[in-house]
Amino acid sequence: MSNFSFQCQARCGHTHARTGVFSTPHGIVETPRFMPVGTLANVKTLTPAQLKETGAQMVLSNTYHLHLQPGEEIVKRAGGVHKFMGWSGPMLTDSGGFQVFSLSEMRSITDDGVTFRSPRDGQMIHLTPERSIQIQNALGADVIMAFDECPPPGVGRDAVEKATERTYDWLKRCIQAHERSDQALFGIVQGGEYLDLRAEAVRMLTDLDLPGYAIGGVSVGEAPEVIDQVVQATAPLLPLDKPRYLMGVGTYREMVRAIAAGIDLFDCVIPTRLARHGSALVGGERWNVKNARFREDFTPLDASCPCYTCQNFTRAYLSHLLRAQELLAYTLLSIHNITELVGFTQRIRAAIAEGTFTEEFARWLAPIG
Ligand code: GUN
Ligand code: ZN
Repeated sequence: MSNFSFQCQARCGHTHARTGVFSTPHGIVETPRFMPVGTLANVKTLTPAQLKETGAQMVLSNTYHLHLQPGEEIVKRAGGVHKFMGWSGPMLTDSGGFQVFSLSEMRSITDDGVTFRSPRDGQMIHLTPERSIQIQNALGADVIMAFDECPPPGVGRDAVEKATERTYDWLKRCIQAHERSDQALFGIVQGGEYLDLRAEAVRMLTDLDLPGYAIGGVSVGEAPEVIDQVVQATAPLLPLDKPRYLMGVGTYREMVRAIAAGIDLFDCVIPTRLARHGSALVGGERWNVKNARFREDFTPLDASCPCYTCQNFTRAYLSHLLRAQELLAYTLLSIHNITELVGFTQRIRAAIAEGTFTEEFARWLAPIG
C-alpha cells in the first residue's frame, strides 16, 4: 500500500480532533476536509476547473450510478474515471450497496449479495461484494469502498446485528476480490444505533488492517442526537494512524462535532442540492436566494467569501437568475456552497493546528439534542 500514506500533523489538546495529510496516487487530501459529491462522474453544474477553485481536493463518485450508466467498461476505456471526467485530483467511489438500498426497488438481500431492478431499463441486476470491487477496479478511483449493508433505522437489534455480520463477511470478500494496489480499499463500520455492535465492528475491521475506515449507517433518517452519539462513541475507537471518513454527513454542526471525535473526511450532497433549490449556505445558515429581500440587494452573498461567485456577483443578480430560471444560477450557487463547506473544514483544520479549535468553534461544539 505504498501508494498511500496518512500523516497525522497536529492534535487538539481537548478533543480527538487532528489534522493530517492523506496522500493518494492523484495527490494529497489535507484533513479534516469536506468532499463534494459527483455522483455520475460530474459535480452537478460545475466544470472540473470551477470545482478545483472551490478548494475541493477529493471528489466522490458512485459505483451504482456509473454501473447503470454509462457502465464501467466505457469509463475504463476512457482511461478511468479521472480521465473520463477530466478531474486529475484524488477521487473516491462509494460501493453501491447504500445506493441500492436507498434508490432502487429492492428485490432481495442474501448472504451472496443484492438483487434489484434497474431504474433505467427494468433489468434485474445482481450486485455482490466481488462485483462491486470489479466495477470499482474498472472505474479506477483512488479510494474504493467496501460493499456493505446499511440497515434502515428502526429495524431492531437482530436485523442490525445480522447486517453488521454480513458487512464483515462481505468486507473479507471485497479484500479477496480487490486487485489494484493503486487503489485503497476502506472498510465501513455498521452497527446502527447500537454502540456495542459498533465497537465490535471496529474490533473486527481493524484486525484486517485496512488503509482507511468509514463510519456508515448514519444520517439514514434517525434523530441527530443518535447520529452524534454513534459518532462520538465510535470514531475514537478507530486506529489513530488511518484516515477516518464519516459517510453522508455534511452539516456544520455534525461536522464540527465529528471532527472533535476524530473524523477526517466527509461527503454530502447538501451544497449542490441546496444550490439546485436556489439556496445558499451563508455563515452557517441556509438562505433562499429567491426571497424578496434579495431582489435589490447589491452586496455579495458573503462579503468574506473568496469564491468566484462572491467576488463577482450580487445577491440581486443571483435572485434575478433564479427567478428567470437561468442555468448559471445553479453553477454560481454550487461554486459558493462548495467553497463554503470546504472552507469551513479548512478553517477548522487551521484552528486545530493553531490550538484554537475548541474556542473558535465553541458555538458548533455544544451538544446536539
Ligand atoms: N453513504 C452514506 N451512508 C453510507 C453507508 O452506510 N454505506 C455506504 N456504502 N455508503 C453510504
Ligand atoms: Zn462565496
